[in-house]
Formats: sequence, C-alpha cells, structure tokens
Amino acid sequence: MPPLIDLRSDTVTRPTDAMRRAMYEAEVGDDWYGDDPTVNRLQDRSAEVTGKDTALYLVTGTLANEIALHVFVRSGHLVVCEAHAHVAGTEALSAAVMSGVAYLPLHADRCRLTAQMVGEALEPDPYDVARIDLVAVESTHNAGMGAVMPLDELQAIRKAAEAAGLPLYLDGARLFNAAEATGTPVSTFAAESDALMFSLSKGLGAPIGSMLCGSNEFIAEARRAKILYGAAWRQAGILAAAGLVALDEGPKRLREDHVNAKRLAEAIAELAPGSIDPSDVETNILYVDPGPFGLSGWDLEERLRSRGVLPTVLGGRIRQVTHRDVAGDDIGRAIDAWRSVAGREGAGS
Ligand SMILES: Cc1ncc(COP(=O)(O)O)c(C=O)c1O
Repeated sequence: MPPLIDLRSDTVTRPTDAMRRAMYEAEVGDDWYGDDPTVNRLQDRSAEVTGKDTALYLVTGTLANEIALHVFVRSGHLVVCEAHAHVAGTEALSAAVMSGVAYLPLHADRCRLTAQMVGEALEPDPYDVARIDLVAVESTHNAGMGAVMPLDELQAIRKAAEAAGLPLYLDGARLFNAAEATGTPVSTFAAESDALMFSLSKGLGAPIGSMLCGSNEFIAEARRAKILYGAAWRQAGILAAAGLVALDEGPKRLREDHVNAKRLAEAIAELAPGSIDPSDVETNILYVDPGPFGLSGWDLEERLRSRGVLPTVLGGRIRQVTHRDVAGDDIGRAIDAWRSVAGREGAGS
C-alpha cells in the first residue's frame, strides 16, 4: 500500500534536502549568550520581513504566544479574543499555569471576530473587577477554516484596542498563508499589531520553531521570560539554519497548498452537499461535517485512513490541512478515497 497521505496538519512536513544541508553546515554559537550567528540571522531576517524592531527564536508557537501573554498581561487580568482562538482553547491551561491569565472569549459567526464585538467587549467594567490587558487576534484562524482576518477589520480592531489603551497581539502562526491568499505583505498585517508570532514549522515547512516579533523593549522582556521558562537553548543555529531556508523558500509555494485545499473541498462538496462550503476555504485548512456522509467524525476518519488518507478529528469535524509534502497527485488520490467512502467509486473527476 502506498504511504498514507498525511493531512493531519501542515506541521508534519519533513525537512527538505536544502534544509538538511543548511543544518549540517550551520555556523553555531551559544544562543543563551546571544552569539549564535545563525539564530541571529534568522531573528534579523524575521524582524525585516515583519517590519518589527527585532525577533526571538522559540521552539513552538505555543511558547511564543504564552511568552507574549506573560509580557502583556498581568496575573488576574483578561485577554479578549475569539472564543475558538488557539490561545483560548488548546493553550487556555498554559496561560493559567504560566501567567495566571484568563480570557474574555467572544463567540463570532464562523470565528470571524469583528471590531464592533471587540469594541463592545472593551467597555469598562462598572464595578472595576474584570480588567482587560490585551486584545489577541488569530490570522489565519485555525478553527475558522483557515480564514484570513481582513486587513480593514484588523485595522478597525486595532483602533478599538488603542481607544481602550490596549495593545494588540497577532497569533500569526499561518500569517504567510494570509499574505499569500490576499496579496497583502506580511509586514502590512504585522504593522497593525504591537507584537506577533509566526510559525516556521507550519506552512513554511521547517522542522521546528516559531518567531516572536516586536519592539526592542517587548523582545527584551520576552527573552527574559524565555530564560525563566527554561527555554533558552544553546547551539540552536543547527535548527535556525533550516528556519532560514523555510523563510526564504516556504512562502513561494503556499499558493499550491491553497489550490490543493480548494480542489479537495470542491470534490467533497460535490460528493456530500452540505458537508463543506468550498467558498469558505481561503487558505490550506478545511473542515468537513461528517453528518451528510451519515457517519460520525471518528468513523469517517477510520474509513479514510483505511483508504490511505490521514485526516484528524476536531470537535467532531474532519480537519484536513494541505502542505508541502502533499502534491497534486496526492490530492487526486485523496479525492478517490473520499469517493470510495461516499460509495461513488468511478464517478468522474
Ligand atoms: C493558530 C495557532 N497558534 C498557535 C499554535 C501553536 O503552535 P505550536 O504547535 O508550534 O505550539 C497553533 C498550532 O497549531 C495554531 O494553529
């Protein structure tokens, strides 16, 4: 049987030959002391791409988000964000444990946060108990089908935050996908934030790492938190070398991932109308409602897996994410597997 088409996440990519070569040849130092030249190059390049003063290389996106919250939010205070944002879901306990921070979650239709919702949430508590320190925005939105936060909405949310005297943090784990989908430079989105994170290890295809970017003052605090959390590393240039290749090469091919995701969504919608609306698929993430297939999420996952396609199940829905290690031919095979599950083998392509 051919290898599984792994659509669980865009984090599953294997390093390219160019990355492995760069890792082998990487010049290294001790990053605790700030003298690893390859880490420094990656940080400088990340600051340049995002238009921020400086950047900090961290092992995960979760750590980048959590360090940002630690710097921006006082213990016992709140972060306003969309209810299904990664920070308020998967990371909610991390924020509680690491920083004593909780969320004021806003339930938005299809996870699409608006400036009006944020503005209303920022009205001061008349009893001065609930205090908000930060507005956090996620783009693209993982649980929201990879949707891009439109630039004008982001600008309006920034204005609402500023009016309340609050900073805006952008969880841009997949910000390069947002840039590719809209033709808007990463730095234009980044300019609407006080600090942001983007992942090297997702669509850009690096094996490990995320970049936290912001002002010199913010990153100085973040670096201190990195050390306190035990996340300072030493010859990290070995990994940063792959990160530099990802940053240079990764963005150029994201369009292909988006085309593949749309093609897969259109085929599934045709097989089971109502299971997915392909017009919702803006980038590389698609969620399928198993209901129209007459199956539960896990039953559908099992049938797909036995036919060579590996999705994941989140909140009862099937999630598939396209990435560098999934080619157009693989999408064709994945569509065949979906046809077989729907009992429509042999239907035209
Ligand atoms: C939007 C978003 N933010 C943060 C993260 C966390 O990144 P990591 O898995 O590198 O900790 C993820 C992971 O999927 C994500 O989708």
